[in-house]
Amino acid sequence: MGRLVIVSNRVGSSLKSNEGGLATAMLAAFDQRQVIWFGWSGKVTDEPPGPTRVQREGRLTRMLVDLEHTDYEGYYLEFANCVLWPVFHYRVNLAEYGRERWAAYNRVNEMFAERLAPALEPDDILWVHDYHLIPLGSALRRLRVDNPIGFFLHIPFPAPEVLATLPVHETLVRALFDYDLVGFQTENDLQAFRDYVQREAGGWTEDGTIHAFGTSVRAASFPISIDTRLVAARAARAMSTRQAARLRDSLSDRRLVIGVDRLDYTKGLVHRVDAVERLLESNPQYRRAIVVLQIAPPSREDVSEYQRMRAELDARIGRINGRFGDPDHLPLRYVNRSFRQDTLFGFYRASRVALVTPLRDGMNLVAKEFVASQDPDDPGVLVLSRFAGAARELKTALIVNPFDVDQIADALDRALAMPVEERRERYETMMAHLDTHDVHAWRDSFLDALQHPDGIFTAGHPMAAE
Ligand code: ADP
Ligand code: F6P
Repeated sequence: MGRLVIVSNRVGSSLKSNEGGLATAMLAAFDQRQVIWFGWSGKVTDEPPGPTRVQREGRLTRMLVDLEHTDYEGYYLEFANCVLWPVFHYRVNLAEYGRERWAAYNRVNEMFAERLAPALEPDDILWVHDYHLIPLGSALRRLRVDNPIGFFLHIPFPAPEVLATLPVHETLVRALFDYDLVGFQTENDLQAFRDYVQREAGGWTEDGTIHAFGTSVRAASFPISIDTRLVAARAARAMSTRQAARLRDSLSDRRLVIGVDRLDYTKGLVHRVDAVERLLESNPQYRRAIVVLQIAPPSREDVSEYQRMRAELDARIGRINGRFGDPDHLPLRYVNRSFRQDTLFGFYRASRVALVTPLRDGMNLVAKEFVASQDPDDPGVLVLSRFAGAARELKTALIVNPFDVDQIADALDRALAMPVEERRERYETMMAHLDTHDVHAWRDSFLDALQHPDGIFTAGHPMAAE
């Protein structure tokens, strides 16, 4: 078996937590093969970056590159996070396009390709991840890398009208055609890609292959997932840990409602706390009966929109606690830090309800982790945004429109009052799905499709959400 070469901007560490869904999923997805994981070291330098650092940990070898300050700004902060992130999440008003940013984005992709290409062996399989690295495949092909290269987009693919607001949309989409396989989170994202190709590039789809720009690429949906059985086992064990016990003790008889999200404007946190306020306003019986724990570690703190949103959230949470709190009880607990995953799973299991209400999200692994962490006899209820990719699979969650504060408040009310039989039924349906559609199935179906070009498309895609 050849080596698997994973390339992503953020390279997961087995020591740190909260590096987002990409790193969490990839760390869970390794199998028996030798894996090279290439990407940014997370370090920013004033000088041009030194040689690629190589770190070995069992079968995993990390290859890490520092970024010079101007590249960190232009490629990561500005183009990836102030242009692609908002556009792909339908927030076109937040996108600040500039030619220098686009140039920096391409420059770093070229630099990554130049560093990676000499380390490759003929039977390596390459798997490139996410919006930071869309042009990497083209850069590698220019360096005569002809290994199979797959690309997986972790975030949504926007509708054509939205994508077209990006001045370089055509060049960006054209770059996807230099991969052998392009994977999306959901059928919806895949359809948006097809629609774009048809409308903007005069292309067409035939048996899972998309034809345009005088060439073609295979594309399918591969919904990312979690290590379901491992999460369930760890959650059961975590209930007896000190932190989970302290949290439970602190609740007295109150019910716990949990939210866990990077502090990101796509996660719908402002609408969510407004919904909590609405519930407490109109249902006074909940004021001393529930605790809402929002865990929100800071993310991309150098981007101004993230700073603005954080200040707005701080103010709102302060206002709600001021309005409904008592000397011995605050309805909203707000924690800006990371936790070990086991601790987090214990928190999920101690919760009666999870609020997962992003305004737009590629998948949302927190939703899946919450379900897998529940006690099968007394499971909690998932309130889930219809705009999270996970809603296409977790259909027995309480699905809400995250822009409708009243609807979230009503769903929270319904979840808190839901009888145990209904909770079990909903949980069992979701767990049955997650048992078969776990992170290993995700990895295997993508890599099978990449390595067997004729395999999946005629037979129907095993991972496509029903
Ligand atoms: P995103 O990739 O946008 O951050 P996801 O919900 O898909 O969103 O993935 C987030 C991942 O990060 C999950 O695996 C979750 O457990 C983890 N995570 C989120 N918040 C924390 C935290 N405070 N501490 C530790 N892990 C966290
Ligand atoms: O999962 C989406 C994603 O954008 C990943 O690509 C990324 O690693 C993660 O969120 C966290 O963001 P960042 O790497 O910018 O901290």
